[in-house]
Amino acid sequence: MTERLITSFRSAYSREPEFIARAPGRIEVIGNHTDYNGGTVLGAAINRGTWVALARRGDGIRRFASEMRPGVVELRAEDAERRTGSQSWVNYPLGVLVAMKSSGIAIPAGFDYMAASNVPAGAGLSSSAAIELSSALVFLQAAGASLTREALVTLGRKAENEFVGVPCGILDQGVSCFGRVNHLVYIDCRVPRFETVPLPASAHFWIFNTHTKHALIDGLYAARHQECLDAAKIIGVPFLVDATPAMLAAAETRLSRTAYKRAHHVIDEIARVEQTVAALRAGDLAAVGKLLYTSHRSSRTWFENSSAELDFLVDCLEVEKGVYGARLTGGGFGGAVVALTSDAFGQEGAARVAESYLSRFGSRPEVIHALTDDGAALVTAGRSAG
Ligand code: GLA
Repeated sequence: MTERLITSFRSAYSREPEFIARAPGRIEVIGNHTDYNGGTVLGAAINRGTWVALARRGDGIRRFASEMRPGVVELRAEDAERRTGSQSWVNYPLGVLVAMKSSGIAIPAGFDYMAASNVPAGAGLSSSAAIELSSALVFLQAAGASLTREALVTLGRKAENEFVGVPCGILDQGVSCFGRVNHLVYIDCRVPRFETVPLPASAHFWIFNTHTKHALIDGLYAARHQECLDAAKIIGVPFLVDATPAMLAAAETRLSRTAYKRAHHVIDEIARVEQTVAALRAGDLAAVGKLLYTSHRSSRTWFENSSAELDFLVDCLEVEKGVYGARLTGGGFGGAVVALTSDAFGQEGAARVAESYLSRFGSRPEVIHALTDDGAALVTAGRSAG
């Protein structure tokens, strides 16, 4: 991918890039909508990512291009308005620059920028965090600045919350930043604290991307976020992570039915993350799998962020040999299902699931056998400015 990106960079700008960085997409293994509730979450960086190449310019002009979009978006350094329509992808790198500036971090004035990615967009695999973090790394390098990984996570989230306009937590940026091959990333989102947990060698992840996306996805995500904050307030705690099942039961009559359901999911889901970590440490993948199925059902019933397509895939996977568990991954309302499997599940089983989906919904899901990967990093540095 790096060579292809350099070729695209050369053909767009007739010069060489100075800096290249890559940040991976991620799977949310378990911990659905727990992050912004101060809870814990478990994810994995995957071998799909976004690469960004950059070379500085002395004239203050910022040129943005992406292999996924035609044309070049040209802005002056003082242009910090959100872009709309076909240029809206630029809001990710632009949001990072705005967040860096408002945090007092040095940024490059002018540059030529090119992105390439193999993270499917809209699948719940964090293509946004991947472009934010890979952009941040090249911007920092170009400005001669550096940040800890913790600060990089905060920066990516700030760009997403304040500029892109999605009130997400730190799951996506945290996993993309702290990912490690053969490990899962465990995040205690309130502190925040990042750890890695070894993934047993026999475990595999398969992703089934439905290519479906609810039309109101951003609004639905923001609504769920608000419902959780409202529920915490009525229960009388700062965040749902502070509430116990007993506290929820005691507050049931004071909560709207909706607030009760959202809180029910989040409180139980945080407990499931802890149980999953314990099962992983014990090497009990069958127990992990059961927790994944329970998580999916809780999303479907209590959090109501599943869909007919996602439920169908989980049901198909459940009867396949070698599948420990499966669930929706990420925000929900469409996107993808992730399955945790043993070696006994392979291309044949995946094709069977895809066929069933095709005959039910008339389109084939994208199937990805994902490997765990390392977190965001610079790929090369110090090429001549050309
Ligand atoms: C999206 C958000 C994350 C997290 C998940 C749901 O991926 O970006 O912050 O809230 O949804 O767990």
